[in-house]
Amino acid sequence: MKGLKRIGALTLCAGLILGSISGLTGCGSIKSDKRIVRISHAQSETHPEHLGLLKFKEYIEENLGDKYEVQIYPNELLGGAQKAIELTQTGAIDFVVAGTANLENFADVYEVFSMPYLFTSEEAYHEVMNDTEYMKDVYESTDAAGFRVLTWYNAGTRSFYAKKAINTPDDLKGLKIRVQQSPASVKMANAFGAAASPMSFGEVYTAIQQGVIDGAENNELALTNNKHGEVAKYYSYNMHQMVPDMLIGNLKFLQGLSDEEYQIFEEAALISTEEEMQYWDDQVAEAKRIAEEDMGVEFIEVDVQAFKDKVADVQQEMLDANPAIQDLYDHIQEVNEKVAQEDK
Ligand code: GCU
Repeated sequence: MKGLKRIGALTLCAGLILGSISGLTGCGSIKSDKRIVRISHAQSETHPEHLGLLKFKEYIEENLGDKYEVQIYPNELLGGAQKAIELTQTGAIDFVVAGTANLENFADVYEVFSMPYLFTSEEAYHEVMNDTEYMKDVYESTDAAGFRVLTWYNAGTRSFYAKKAINTPDDLKGLKIRVQQSPASVKMANAFGAAASPMSFGEVYTAIQQGVIDGAENNELALTNNKHGEVAKYYSYNMHQMVPDMLIGNLKFLQGLSDEEYQIFEEAALISTEEEMQYWDDQVAEAKRIAEEDMGVEFIEVDVQAFKDKVADVQQEMLDANPAIQDLYDHIQEVNEKVAQEDK
């Protein structure tokens, strides 16, 4: 009931915002002929993704400013990832940034990113994701659902954090851990022995605070940008996933662009990724400092191999259950190997 009320409030909020926007552009005194391009995302205005999207806006408006004005809505203002994807599908808004976990219901291939310990290094992760030629098919895999991915954003490495210290996989036993709303994320956390509790990002703080869940899993920025460090004081570096975020665009909108305009949107997307990535490492270091010094969060170095061993069968189980991920999985393994050889 409480959940329903919250969804109701969110929908109303999104409705009001969208309503007031169309009111303004539709009958306001400063009537503009420009097409407003709306982008929703879940992060704060200091987060690398927001800074990347500001570059996206700048590039579009520099090159196509007579036709388009880009408006960015941060902080899940238009709803959590799933709601915002729906709005993008219907064309109520044009773009959304969402983690691949949210795309699993639209294209099976995205399940691969929820596999624990899929990438064996950050270099391999970046190399796979920066290969735009290879990723093209993956990006277009949601065309049937009415949207397409334009680019990816780094969302770091995910680890568990909770109200109590997690030193070994056994410490996860029975802990209620929030995961992203995807079947593969649920499977992943349950395989670690936790009790997976899927919910939207924006609900996590209150859920930990009220004891509905014991903890969650994410990159370090969640502790500071989303204030989770106020309610969960132990962050354990078990590093189980690198899950990218995707910039997703409404397909009709994208297909309605001229070739030249489409190219500019694609260029803007790539530039926004470069910009986002530049901030990542520094922001993580700063988040760690603030969490430790100001919020009293303890960062725990764990025996990562013990966590890997605990979920050793999960990759094969997921491959058996979902053949759609095999090709991308094999490709990622090749890049993992190649990078490992180069590093030797
Ligand atoms: C990260 C990620 C988001 C995702 C969130 C989550 O912040 O960048 O896209 O929504 O984790 O766990 O839901």
